[in-house]
Formats: sequence, C-alpha cells, structure tokens
Amino acid sequence: MRTVAVIGALDEEVAGIASALHGVEHRDEAGLDIVHGALATRQGPDIAVAATVGGMGLVNAAATTQHLIDAFHPEAVIFSGIAGSLNPALHINDVVLGGTLRYLDSDMRLIAQWKPGTEEFHSDPHLLDLADATLNDLDVIHIVGIIASGNTFVDTPERIDQVKRQTGADAVEMEGAAVAHVAARNDVPALVIRALSDNADTEYEVFKEFDISAYADTAARITLGIVERM
Ligand code: ADE
Repeated sequence: MRTVAVIGALDEEVAGIASALHGVEHRDEAGLDIVHGALATRQGPDIAVAATVGGMGLVNAAATTQHLIDAFHPEAVIFSGIAGSLNPALHINDVVLGGTLRYLDSDMRLIAQWKPGTEEFHSDPHLLDLADATLNDLDVIHIVGIIASGNTFVDTPERIDQVKRQTGADAVEMEGAAVAHVAARNDVPALVIRALSDNADTEYEVFKEFDISAYADTAARITLGIVERM
C-alpha cells in the first residue's frame, strides 16, 4: 500500500489524524509513539499513514524523519508545526509552506557533502500544489515562502535581524530544514507546513492570539486534506 509519513508538532494534532484513520495500531519505536492506519483518498485506493510527534530541534527532526523512512518506506514525508513570523505582511495563524528551507548557522559546503553544491532544501512541487488546494478549501491565508531552521528560539530584535539578513526567511522554526535535508538524502519528497504562532519577538503573541487547540485541529485537517488528494 502507498504510505505517507507525517511528523506533527503536538500530541493533539497526531490524535486528530489518528481519529480519521481506520485499522489504527500504535508502534513504540526509536523513542517515538507512531500511529499507523489507513485513510480513504478522493480518487484511488486507501493510503497508509504513519504519524508521530518528533520533538523539538534539528536532531529530533532528523532522527524521526530517518526512522519513518526506514520503517515505512513512505512516498512522502509531511511535517507540520508552528513558526515565528519574520514577514510583516503575514499574521498569527497564517501558514507558510516551506518552498525553500535554510539552516541558520550552518556551513553548507561542509554539510551537504553527499550532494556538493546543495545550499538549501525544497518542499516537493506536487505536494506544495496539494497543500495550496487544501489551504484554499479551508480558507487559510498562506504563502509558499522561505523557512529558516535552527536549534534556538528566535525572540530578540538582534536575532530577528540576523536571521532575516542571513536567510531572507518569512518564518523561523527549529526542525523544517532537517526534515527536508534527511528526506532529500533518501530521495523522498517532503513538505513543510508552518502555522505562524508568534512574531518572533519578546511579546510572545503565541500565548495571546494563538489558540493551540484550534491549531492542532486545523493542522490535522490540513494534513488529512493533502493525503486525501494524493
Ligand atoms: N517556533 C515558533 N516560534 C518560533 C520562534 N520564534 N523561533 C524559533 N522557533 C519557533
């Protein structure tokens, strides 16, 4: 059966995905609680979905992505989570699709030795189209943009300026480039989806305007909408 791997940010989000699957089983592997089941698609046979919460940071994201690829041989890896906005035209709850993913603080001449010349990573164009259609259906404002990933939370004016200067990013988070990097090493198409939770400032709008449970529900619906269209 065709399989899609999904890495979510929240337990509630993965539970929302699991509730739409049939034949669900849990697998406890590589420090992950993975739910595995089947989802009906719009036009073809069911697709198997293996979904889990990967944990924060680049290493957790990389380890989770590689494990899901090795264990389930997915035709795609979808990552969904939250990010800080660096683009003044966007607002809390809008979505940035990671057309381009760049690391913070990484010398790509040394890191991409398996494919010299790699300076950044990309979500798969077909998966971006499916995400665009799903987000239009759900009435979620979104762009295909640049996402910067690093191992620290960005929340000072100095860091914001530095990240913008170095990466030109629309959003900053802590996993996306690692997921796309590992997927690229394995020749598996990837998609990174980020809902904006804060303005990467010390105001932490995440706790004011951003509703985590609404986000978990929307994130699950976005991911399911994409897989249903595959
Ligand atoms: N995830 C959500 N907001 C973030 C921020 N401001 N910096 C890094 N990761 C984030």
